[in-house]
Amino acid sequence: MKRLVCVSNRISLPRRSAPPGGLAVGVLAALQHTGGLWFGWSGETSEEPSAEPELLVRGNIRFATIDLQPAEFEAYYSGYCNSTLWPLFHYFPDRFTHDQHHYEAYHAVNARFARHLAKLLRDDDAVWVHDYQLIPLAAYLRQLHFQGPIGFFLHIPFPHLQVLRLLPNHAELVRDLCQYDLVGFQTDDDLRSFLSCCEQPAVRSQDGVIEAGGRRVRLGVYPIGIDVDQVRAEAAATQAQETVERLTASLLGRKLIIGVDRLDYSKGLTERFAAFEHFLETFPDNKGKVTFLQIAPLSRGNVHAYSEIRETLERTAGRLNGRFAEADWTPIRYLNRNCSHSTLMSFLRAAQVALVTPVRDGMNLVAKEFVAAQNADDPGVLILSPMAGAARELGGALQVNPYDKRGMALALQTALNMPLEDRQQRHEQMLAAVREHDIHSWYGRFVYDLSGAVIRRPTEARAVRQIRNRRAEATAGEFSFG
Ligand code: F6P
Repeated sequence: MKRLVCVSNRISLPRRSAPPGGLAVGVLAALQHTGGLWFGWSGETSEEPSAEPELLVRGNIRFATIDLQPAEFEAYYSGYCNSTLWPLFHYFPDRFTHDQHHYEAYHAVNARFARHLAKLLRDDDAVWVHDYQLIPLAAYLRQLHFQGPIGFFLHIPFPHLQVLRLLPNHAELVRDLCQYDLVGFQTDDDLRSFLSCCEQPAVRSQDGVIEAGGRRVRLGVYPIGIDVDQVRAEAAATQAQETVERLTASLLGRKLIIGVDRLDYSKGLTERFAAFEHFLETFPDNKGKVTFLQIAPLSRGNVHAYSEIRETLERTAGRLNGRFAEADWTPIRYLNRNCSHSTLMSFLRAAQVALVTPVRDGMNLVAKEFVAAQNADDPGVLILSPMAGAARELGGALQVNPYDKRGMALALQTALNMPLEDRQQRHEQMLAAVREHDIHSWYGRFVYDLSGAVIRRPTEARAVRQIRNRRAEATAGEFSFG
């Protein structure tokens, strides 16, 4: 039986209290199910990182972490990952910068990850690499003679060639991705964009395999999901928590509109604030009757684009409150703080409307969490941007273009006044969709495909195809990694 080894830039250590994001929740769920190893950056920097990874064992998971040097943090993390790849992959060519030194640091850190990881790997391991920070990792692991299957999942969008080719090293990036045996995307659109970037117009065989750079690479779409029952349980159980009760009491019966996003320009927060202002102008009856709670934990603070958007939002929230607030009413409550996951789930449950309006997003799990957290007898309404991967599944949401403040204001008015029956029908459809593509189906399908992804001879390919067909009936629970 194979051991699953997950690798991500940053890992979520159990002893840290910060609530993990979508990637961390997904990796943790997979590893809790299969057991295995999670390797990545500790989140710390040190001038002289230890020669060996720090190891920690919790239950059936081994965590192995390394520190980054401050210079690596600057050039690799703040530089290439978050000033080059992040803006470009989210279709922000005007925010993207290219610096060859950052690209070299990106490769040097990937090579260092590979050297540390190779020492921990066993021949029968299957390696699952996560996200844009680690695209070249497979190539380095191959150089170090690792023969087992290596898969890659991209948690963020993949841009079309028309955008990717702004990057001087784009061809190398695509070649590096083709060193994996399996490459997974959030949506069909992302997969198609990737195909647009392959050298030859790549032809996908029936079982999703392409030939690229002399290798056979399996491609697939694996929309990430959530643990629906856990979210429902958390949302219901923490309702009696003091923080949640204080929030509900402080609303004084007003309706609650909620947004929960890492503070990032891709989340459409400036556009959302502008739309809320327009809503109060256009539908003034709502003044004093609704509260908009935006939770936006700070992120990547030493990247200019992030400090810039932070200042903009602070200014906008202050101006808007100054303009509309009454002695006993503040229209926007803007928090740069994180709450525990369970408190957040209760806040989502307490809200009548959620605004999930990114200008570009891989999936956006808050949309799915909002649906799962609702009380089915009296559910809230989701306002969702079609630019989020989640919009492919959540047809019951009110879809709005995040740049269209009139449309957003109208959607808010519709949502706040939607009859119960309509809300229930929409919620039922969305809850079924969230259940269909839940977290277990995400990792179950990916890990299953990864185990059959190393195809070298046509006979093997046929055998794997037969297994894949049988897999259609298999559930994540029957998966046989140990
Ligand atoms: O989901 C995208 C992502 O960049 C993940 O790779 C990462 O775990 C998360 O967002 C948080 O980003 P960061 O580690 O840069 O704070």
